[in-house]
Amino acid sequence: MTSTALPAPDPSAHRRMRGVPDSYAELSDYYDLLMTSGYYDYDTYAQALLSRIGMHRDVLELGVGTGLVADRLLARGPKDLRLTGIDHTDSMLAQARDRLGERVRLSREDVLDLSLPSAFDVAYSIGGVWNIVQDGEKSWLSSHLMEEEDNEAALANLAAAIRPSGSLLLSVQGPHRRSDRTLPGDLAYTQHVEVDPEGRHTKDYFIEGQGMVLAHQRLRFRLFPQETADRLLQHCGFRFQESDDLLWHYVRR
Ligand SMILES: C[S@@+](CC[C@H](N)C(=O)[O-])C[C@H]1O[C@@H](n2cnc3c(N)ncnc32)[C@H](O)[C@@H]1O
Repeated sequence: MTSTALPAPDPSAHRRMRGVPDSYAELSDYYDLLMTSGYYDYDTYAQALLSRIGMHRDVLELGVGTGLVADRLLARGPKDLRLTGIDHTDSMLAQARDRLGERVRLSREDVLDLSLPSAFDVAYSIGGVWNIVQDGEKSWLSSHLMEEEDNEAALANLAAAIRPSGSLLLSVQGPHRRSDRTLPGDLAYTQHVEVDPEGRHTKDYFIEGQGMVLAHQRLRFRLFPQETADRLLQHCGFRFQESDDLLWHYVRR
């Protein structure tokens, strides 16, 4: 494998990322391969989501990506589930359309500009726009939106789209660390992570094969301490309900 040289950091990039679309464009060709070869267990997430969705039918996925979660949900869930998925990366959505066809309403939207009718019983994000990072007793809200005020605006948009007493479900995952592993097809995956004191993460994904870097994706996200997250979520109308190893459950007041 070649050594993966990192581009020089750009200190102003965090601020510029506000509302930038297509955040996963460089990785999208390899996304499914990476995710389905040990990154996430989609069947387990789908089962956990379905147990919270219960009798509800109007469901929204935030950051639907290539449709891997939605696909598992439809395969395991009730036939009359009405699923909508939003995402701001065209090349991810194109794959979701191929995978899901007419079974899911897909829409190219950024959560910052989300404007949906108050029509959803449940919204969920599995490593999408938001998720929870857990490290032992400590937890953070991980967000693709770098600024607190952007999270507040997006969570307010989301609250407006969820019916009163509806649910927001966020997946739980471990901390982001440097790692590498092999992928099917004689490919190799490496991730580098840099963190600043305010929880801003710069994560570089590299896919390599035949001695070349085939894809490099630089992603930025921020981990907000649980107190900040609770304040933000409370302020936008979400009350913490319960959590387990897979999902955190908030209720729209
Ligand atoms: C790690 S992928 C997760 C996709 C899918 N949930 C899965 O588990 O495979 C994160 C997705 O969130 C989308 N995303 C990130 N920020 C977004 C934003 N502000 N608005 C809409 N989608 C966003 C990205 O384009 C990407 O497809």
